[in-house]
Amino acid sequence: MWTITGATTEYTIDDQLELVAWGPHGVSHGPSPYAFHGKVQYMLRGDVAAVEYAPDGVRPFLGADLGIAAQVLNWRLVSVTEQDGLRAELVDDVTGLRVELRWRFAPGTDVVERWAVVHNDGAAAVSVTRLGSAGFNIPSPAGVDISYLCGQWSQEFTPASTTLTRGRFAIGSEQGVTGHQFASTIAVANGQATYGIGLAWTGSWQISVDVDAAGLARVRAGRSLEGAPITLAPGESVTTPVAAGVYSADGHDGVARQWHAYERRLARPATRKVIYNSWEATTFDVTAEAQLALADVAAELGVETFVVDDGWFVGRHDDHGGLGDWTPDPAKFPDGFGAFVHAVREKGLEFGLWVEPEMVNPKSALYAAHPDWVYETAGRERSTIRQQYLLNLGREDVFEFVRDTLDGLLRDYPITYLKWDFNRPRTEADRNAQDVDGAHVHNLYRVLDFLRANHPGVTIEGCAAGGARVDLAMAARTDMLWPSDNTAPLDRLLIQWGFLGAHAPHLMSSWVTDAAGMFDDRPRSLAFRFVLACAGVLGIGADITRWGDAEKAEATEWVATYKRVRDVITRGEVHRIGSPHEERCAIQYTLGDRVVVCAWNAGGLDGRDGVPARDVRLPLRGLDPAARYGDFSGAHLMAVGLPVRWTPGYDAGLFELERQ
Ligand code: GLA
Repeated sequence: MWTITGATTEYTIDDQLELVAWGPHGVSHGPSPYAFHGKVQYMLRGDVAAVEYAPDGVRPFLGADLGIAAQVLNWRLVSVTEQDGLRAELVDDVTGLRVELRWRFAPGTDVVERWAVVHNDGAAAVSVTRLGSAGFNIPSPAGVDISYLCGQWSQEFTPASTTLTRGRFAIGSEQGVTGHQFASTIAVANGQATYGIGLAWTGSWQISVDVDAAGLARVRAGRSLEGAPITLAPGESVTTPVAAGVYSADGHDGVARQWHAYERRLARPATRKVIYNSWEATTFDVTAEAQLALADVAAELGVETFVVDDGWFVGRHDDHGGLGDWTPDPAKFPDGFGAFVHAVREKGLEFGLWVEPEMVNPKSALYAAHPDWVYETAGRERSTIRQQYLLNLGREDVFEFVRDTLDGLLRDYPITYLKWDFNRPRTEADRNAQDVDGAHVHNLYRVLDFLRANHPGVTIEGCAAGGARVDLAMAARTDMLWPSDNTAPLDRLLIQWGFLGAHAPHLMSSWVTDAAGMFDDRPRSLAFRFVLACAGVLGIGADITRWGDAEKAEATEWVATYKRVRDVITRGEVHRIGSPHEERCAIQYTLGDRVVVCAWNAGGLDGRDGVPARDVRLPLRGLDPAARYGDFSGAHLMAVGLPVRWTPGYDAGLFELERQ
């Protein structure tokens, strides 16, 4: 038996590579809940056992992790060694495939990272048709409850759940990107504990849950090779992305806290600066004059970084042209782009820029020069989405172009912030080409890694038509992620609530805008919008040149408040209180002795003092019951709750408490 140990949990497997125990420290001392008795009928043992990773010869009927074309894959275990966690080696004597399986707890966390490396040591090429990263086994005597996040553009991260007593549930993306439709993390509860499973991959993927008749749920996570097997020539190998698993006795929110802690570990430790982004104010109509007018007000409000969004480069008057030609438009910056950036910085602001480097418009000089750089299926028309094509970043020449374009911009101008967008998924591809999806994703990571290494002072915000590229791999390579283009207050509250169910606040980019609701257009105050954007990384995206003195004064105060509390918000432990559909809706952040509570009235208004009513109470979590926090005891705040009394004009608040 081998046990690996995380911060508060442990994970034990046996010499058959079957799971024995997964839970709090000490959980392996006792009979395994995965052991089974009785005779296996009309299946193989691997279909019933808590197998950690199985080829289709070992687990032929109920869901294998690895498969190859033309034959059933079987293997023998060669060794298990302790090496940065555990490493097992298995070999198939027929094909010569050798597979390394890895397990380790990410240091200081309760997240088990698992992956596989498949080597072809044989004499002939092997075509891999199924390439899972890991299978996670969960006891399920009475089925499981699965929570996940789904959506579409402008409605990302909508919480959803289903009960599965038998059969299969699956989510994923075939779009060559994580996608708007599903987040690549799920939580599975069996009535006793909740398990989180996530995948660190930014291409096509699948996570599935199988619940069998004998009390086992098995969650498989991995890349999707749908229609695109990977051929391994002799001597070649492929490494799967990391699948991450976590155990929590504290429900779905407990799982979320584990993901937050993990993502904080993946992140670069840096204070999140307050940004202004001009997209909603000016859209494509970028001019130096109008941007500087916005920058003037931004500086006055206390903003730290001014970001010019889409529309700054040649040929970009709308979304019909320009992508690919990353040269500042001289007509828009008559004194030169350098002088413009300098003028922004003279106001005491840092400077940031929007790019979408993997894309090209048919109407661009880049496309005229390199029509062969875009994805296509020979002989068929190329489809545009938002009038643009996707460059085949898997090609070395495209990779170099993207890397050098960004490197050049960062060298030519004092830019400290890049917003990297991706506004269309892949449609066509050459099915004969080797691992199109893997090549694109690997080169995306190479560029991001290059930027981190060569421009360590540059903050990178990931964006994909809103939140289509949010996953554990991007969390490790960007500083922030844009959850959605929907910035309307009540709509955004739902999106952010869902986002925080899987991802950490330091990643959650959010702007205060003037947007009306797309789905829920009940008006909300400026304070509501500010508290909402303060719940993650504060930005402002409104046309602030139209704001009056009162709005500017209020905004200045909120920006100062955010600067005071942002450490607690971006590094603290998160508890979600109530729901984004009620009067009681709050997020509590706790860091050491400091507590910040962001609260919103997302429901109706009772009473308004015309009839008797009682305050809304926000019961806090994880405090010291005996300590005092301002006017309250910890016991009171936890058992009764922080009181708020919403009125028509007072619909949100940010509360700071400190243990005395
Ligand atoms: C996408 C992004 C937006 C904005 C526009 C610019 O839609 O999600 O935030 O940058 O592109 O074209």
